[in-house]
Amino acid sequence: MSFRIQPTPAARPNRCQLFGPGSRPAIFEKMAASAADVINLDLEDSVAPTDKDSARANIIQAIGDIDWGNKTLSVRINGLDTPYWYRDVVDLLEQAGDRIDIIMIPKVGCAADLYAVDALVTAVERAKGRSKPLGFEVIIESAAGISHVEEIASATPRLQAMSLGAADFAASMGMATTGIGGTQETYYMAREGQKYWSDPWHWAQAAIVAACRTHGVLPVDGPFGDFSDDEGFRAQALRSATLGMVGKWAIHPKQVAIANEVFTPSDTAVAEAREILGAMEQAKANGEGATVYKGRLVDIASIKQAEVIVKQSEMIAQNT
Ligand code: COA
Ligand code: MG
Repeated sequence: MSFRIQPTPAARPNRCQLFGPGSRPAIFEKMAASAADVINLDLEDSVAPTDKDSARANIIQAIGDIDWGNKTLSVRINGLDTPYWYRDVVDLLEQAGDRIDIIMIPKVGCAADLYAVDALVTAVERAKGRSKPLGFEVIIESAAGISHVEEIASATPRLQAMSLGAADFAASMGMATTGIGGTQETYYMAREGQKYWSDPWHWAQAAIVAACRTHGVLPVDGPFGDFSDDEGFRAQALRSATLGMVGKWAIHPKQVAIANEVFTPSDTAVAEAREILGAMEQAKANGEGATVYKGRLVDIASIKQAEVIVKQSEMIAQNT
């Protein structure tokens, strides 16, 4: 056990991030009225190259004009391999006012990518006397990104959240799939005529969670493309929550309620966690480090597990 204490991530709900193209301003009010904790206005891959300038202008106007309530407001900029990203950063910071909380940087491949954006953001903030420092979130969606995930997670104190972007990740890795997240028909084990589906995203998710937890960053599951498949979305979200992720993207409004439900600890889970804490209080009073709860062992590690659930529930209740 390291003597270093694991840092805590930003204490804000991030159960669902709702995306919408910057080139479709008619849905911005609907996004603001949704139940998502985080709004991501997109300048990147949902916006055609010919629409980049107008989408940027739409977003800058909407950041000031629309009442975003207490949501975290994020804009996804274009990648560092494009000619658009510096203009995204400069125009947003110079023209959009203080309501913007975060920019999302896609396709991050190494810590130096964030150093470069941080340098530009810091210079514009100083020039403009911006009072609220801009936060960052990143998408891990390439072989380079997952290979350097730990250095990326520690690259800048601006970094608040990190998402897995399944589609670009699959393409970069050369995976034989066109699905965006979820079960893949060809990824199974077979025995006695039965197929048992496995999870091709598991390793990348676990690597992201470990890097994020080491450095106090929120780990988030990215998009699930088939928005007609609620069962598949729920299953993917439940797996992510079980692995330690705090939320999931919605690429259609119907996914928001499912993500909120999955990433809010249930009353039953919170009640059980409180009972475990109570049982361990009793054990401590009896001079014991371990005891039996509902026929199973609970010990000092169980206190930490139960506290994760109780604290997450309290943080969500306080901030929504
Ligand atoms: N946020 C808020 N509202 C949305 C929305 C979104 N992302 N997408 C659609 N809506 C609204 C529609 O305007 C419509 O509203 P109405 O009932 O008042 O007419 C309602 O939700 C139902 O929309 P629907 O007809 O089912 O979808 P669509 O064909 O209009 O749009 C998508 C489908 C997938 C194109 C659209 O949801 C979208 O652009 N999603 C985000 C894509 C994105 O940002 N990708 C980048 C990250 S991967
Ligand atoms: Mg992508």
